[in-house]
Amino acid sequence: MGDGMTLSDVVLVLVPMCCLMSGGCLTATLGGLGGTAPILDQKTFKSVTNVSTYLLHPSSGTLFLGARNAILAVDTRDLNQQPKKIVWDVPEEKRKSCVGKGKTEADCNNYIRLLEYLKDGRVYACGTYAFDPQCAFLHLPSFTLEKTEDGAVKMETGKGKCPFEPSQRYTAVMADGILYTAATSNFLGTLYDISRATGPEQERVRTDQSINWLNDPEFVSSAYIEQTPDSNPTGDDDKIYFFFTEMAKEHDLYTKVPRVVRVCKSDVGGMKTLQRRWTTFLKAQLVCEDKPSGQRYNILTDVFTAQHSPGDPSSTHFYGLFTSQWEPNDVSAVCVFSLFDISKVMDGPFKELKKTCENWNSPETVPTPRPGQCLNSALKAQGFESSLKLPDKVLTFVRDHPLMENSVTAAPLLVRKGIKYTKLAVTLMGEAEDQKGAVLHLGTDRGELHQVAVAGQNATLLQEIPLFSPQEPVNNILLHQGRALVGSPLSVARVQAEGCTLYPSCEVCARARGVGCEWSAEDKLCRFTETEPGPGDVVDEALKKCDAEAGRCTPFLKDLKVSVGLRILLPCVQLSPRPCSWEYPPHRHTRQHHSDLAVTVTEDNLGKYVCTCQVQVIVQK
Ligand SMILES: *[C@@H]1O[C@H](CO)[C@@H](O)[C@H](O)[C@H]1NC(C)=O
Ligand SMILES: *[C@@H]1O[C@H](CO)[C@@H](O)[C@H](O)[C@H]1NC(C)=O
Repeated sequence: MGDGMTLSDVVLVLVPMCCLMSGGCLTATLGGLGGTAPILDQKTFKSVTNVSTYLLHPSSGTLFLGARNAILAVDTRDLNQQPKKIVWDVPEEKRKSCVGKGKTEADCNNYIRLLEYLKDGRVYACGTYAFDPQCAFLHLPSFTLEKTEDGAVKMETGKGKCPFEPSQRYTAVMADGILYTAATSNFLGTLYDISRATGPEQERVRTDQSINWLNDPEFVSSAYIEQTPDSNPTGDDDKIYFFFTEMAKEHDLYTKVPRVVRVCKSDVGGMKTLQRRWTTFLKAQLVCEDKPSGQRYNILTDVFTAQHSPGDPSSTHFYGLFTSQWEPNDVSAVCVFSLFDISKVMDGPFKELKKTCENWNSPETVPTPRPGQCLNSALKAQGFESSLKLPDKVLTFVRDHPLMENSVTAAPLLVRKGIKYTKLAVTLMGEAEDQKGAVLHLGTDRGELHQVAVAGQNATLLQEIPLFSPQEPVNNILLHQGRALVGSPLSVARVQAEGCTLYPSCEVCARARGVGCEWSAEDKLCRFTETEPGPGDVVDEALKKCDAEAGRCTPFLKDLKVSVGLRILLPCVQLSPRPCSWEYPPHRHTRQHHSDLAVTVTEDNLGKYVCTCQVQVIVQK
């Protein structure tokens, strides 16, 4: 040191504690499991940055990554192997002309934003290509991009398939070899479109350019829901769902609202009205709201699609990750919406957007066949074999009434203050008939993966795993063979994602009791069990069986070695909308940030810091 200052090591005891008001124990802070996740980072990736897109080749376990000016192939079964790499960059003169149009040097690169399989087994790759989106074809056996005769990469326009701007939010999904996208469709990024972006030219339908259809949307996710022949007696069409947040036109203030849009796969637009536009574009508001506190989470950030009974499309559920426009600090919530509930709202009343004197009281009568409905066997039998045959009055109605009157509502499964989740994936526990709830895998903006068990109304934090540096937000989570491939723009990690064995201690295992896990004391192992937990507080009972004093309301004690002058953040895990509060030795060098406590260490503020959280009270009649 030499400067006369003495830094003595002192001990501060941190006691994040969970107090039961009623209901399940929702909170606990646990250490991470850093070392156990194999990771590819900048040492392997070298100059490759801005990884944004994942595509898995399931049978070989190869993971394709779309990055800045490059496509990588990673062998997920052996992360020690150097990934293969294709460079696909922008020629110098193209880059210069992009900069000349006022774009930054960094943005005038080729950010690969789309990797999807074509029906012939090739991969369709699209990149921003210096604000002039382009697509190319990846030949897998040789891992090369197809070339033209003169040796250049064979390209076709990527307009409507991939955004112009590298950081713009966008989503795409392949349905039967045809690409459906929700993206901006001009250089300025002012035109938004949900479109069928490939396939025969006359079938490339898109949205009407009306703010009733899309109003400044931020696209988040999309899903293709295919009918199965044996569960489709009405001959209903396959559907594509898009999820986004947009400005609400029906409210006066600038309020953002999360939305779901449904279009039908065989929709080719109308004959005169809605020519080359969707005739099945129906939109509904999603509401993720904690009724008791009135807190609404109105900004959608990610959606994970899961079938609760594998193979049955009608059992599809959409797990939405939300944050709030009104909350100044970070907050995250998860709400789940069933396909059944969405369909019910889409079959319900239409919202009247154009209030005129005539229709103020009585909404316009709904013509037949019902506007926005997918074509099925019955409609085809009536002569509507194609959307081109739909009557004009049906088409004008759907053009003017894209929004449904009712919302799809859900209560949060999980709310965390002070944490910003960026990505979500879900594994369901147990077999179809013996469904035990789910484990949520949540990526944070600070390079961590959190796992939360959800059983009925009870959410329990299982573990928090720091994977990457805090500067690297998680931007991908892909589940494959019981593992989660988790990525940031600079790294990829592989962690165990399925089965009770991934919980390393009796305490973590006890918290997963609700999803069917039980600790075996002999084998020192967490395993799945068919036996139902006994009555009473499930997690609590299981915790009591653990050796240590960890039981009901028993805090997890952590000794922190600190130095005087150090500023530290003591985390307190909040899973419910109810507040958490801290008790600590009286002094003025602390400040509460959301539910965490910032402490500047002095000689006299050492001691016990206890965080107490209330949990949600669920009263049932
Ligand atoms: C949730 O917690 C309550 C209260 O502890 C308990 O009675 C209930 O069985 C739990 N539900 C599930 C599905 O674990
Ligand atoms: C690309 O990465 C750099 C550095 O990691 C970052 O500053 C930049 O915002 C990224 N750009 C995009 C479009 O993601």
